Amino acid sequence: MEHHKEPGPGPISVSIKARIERHAELAYRTNPLFARAERGEVSMEHIARYLRSLHHLFSMTVPYLKAAEAGALERGNPKLARFFREKIGEEAGHDEWARADFESVPLDAGTREAIDVLPTMKAFLAHVREMIAIDPAFYVAYAMTAEYFTVLVAPRWVAALHEKCGIDPRHMSAIAKHAELDKDHADEDMRVLDELLPPSESWDLGRLLASVDRTIEIFDEFGHDVFS
Ligand SMILES: [Fe+2]
Repeated sequence: MEHHKEPGPGPISVSIKARIERHAELAYRTNPLFARAERGEVSMEHIARYLRSLHHLFSMTVPYLKAAEAGALERGNPKLARFFREKIGEEAGHDEWARADFESVPLDAGTREAIDVLPTMKAFLAHVREMIAIDPAFYVAYAMTAEYFTVLVAPRWVAALHEKCGIDPRHMSAIAKHAELDKDHADEDMRVLDELLPPSESWDLGRLLASVDRTIEIFDEFGHDVFS
């Protein structure tokens, strides 16, 4: 008798997917980046502050993927290491999109030069490094959170920024491109979560879900910081 393995996500990714969907539903209430876009309260300077930190976040993607690859090899999981290595090829250069978006925002030179990476973005990156150090499994959950959340939230956000705040989508090209690319990436993250993560003492589903919550929580804090 032939046995077919049911395609599609298993229990880990199903739980994380549901959690991210809940956060995406709440995002327009909990995160000022989205709430204020809907109310027409995001200025060019706000979006430049956001993009400066987004560029910094994207510039760390490749170093962090390399660290996750090394961590997976140390733990004897070469298939997971290969997933991270292949992702480097997909993510390299995306920081340049964010840099170009930042530079496209019309601002006077003094205002632009005064914009630095926000403290909450530094906290966000510290959280990401901590997850990689605990177990590369947490970094897969993080990647899925970042990518699936973007797919769910970004199209409405870019539209609201355009229609309610007068921010041309050309300033948001890094986000618009990710809203498309990350559909496939999020599917791949789900597959990896279910197929490549062996049972381990260092993580369990509860801790993975808590790390997803923490990722969103710090991103909400970052959203407040953009307007502070
Ligand atoms: Fe990317």
